[in-house]
Amino acid sequence: MRKTIIAGNWKMYKTLKDGQELAVALRRDLYKIENTDIVICPPFTLLGFLADALESSNIAVGAQDLYWQEEGAFTGEVSPAMIKDAGCLYVIIGHSERRQFFDETNETVNKKIKAALKCGLIPIVCVGENLQEREADKTFKVIEEHINKGLADISASDMSKIIVAYEPVWAIGTGKTATPEQAQEVHKFIRGLLSKIYGQEAAEGIRIQYGGSVKPENITELMNKPDVDGALVGGASLKAESFAAIVTKASEVTK
Ligand code: 13P
Repeated sequence: MRKTIIAGNWKMYKTLKDGQELAVALRRDLYKIENTDIVICPPFTLLGFLADALESSNIAVGAQDLYWQEEGAFTGEVSPAMIKDAGCLYVIIGHSERRQFFDETNETVNKKIKAALKCGLIPIVCVGENLQEREADKTFKVIEEHINKGLADISASDMSKIIVAYEPVWAIGTGKTATPEQAQEVHKFIRGLLSKIYGQEAAEGIRIQYGGSVKPENITELMNKPDVDGALVGGASLKAESFAAIVTKASEVTK
């Protein structure tokens, strides 16, 4: 049995005051949930404050990116140790917005995953095709490259700590969710790829989240699919009401 994991990616939203209010509201609304890992990923400026606000709660904090070097003259970058030191347990790596706007490649994703693991952070590794690639029937090819190159030289024991997030780019922020069947098809494909590399037993233990226009209205049917183990939520994670509803509904799905 894989434990459900729901993460909120706040992207470049929320000042300190708004972020604190949201964290306090989530703590209040979700304190009873035990069977689901809950994560929020605010911008860097809020990490330390929100890790403090959520201390000894059931909500963990994650960063949205990191740099792979330990320290040095890398203006504007944040190291794995700094993220850990701010109180984070997770870090999102390879989000499609980083691939699209900030030159993230499968090679930099691979370096970042290794740096995160070395520091004891849990990587949430994003993979997914864009609309053009889906329409050209290249979805599986793109995913295969993201997995094979992004996870190159990662050992089976390290892989057991990693979360994979399937985020079809065409479903992000568009209100156009992949159907549960489309999500399941790709999740199953990803698990098959992981099984080829790490063996079936290891692959069965790896959690794969779906991301892209997840809302309280569609979480249950997505979670009902056998290979969907959670969600990476963007827009709907910015309000306590919708994020708490998503977490609560996901926690109620038994497989
Ligand atoms: P939306 O939920 O806003 O579509 O964003 C998904 C996402 O990119 C999460 O990382």
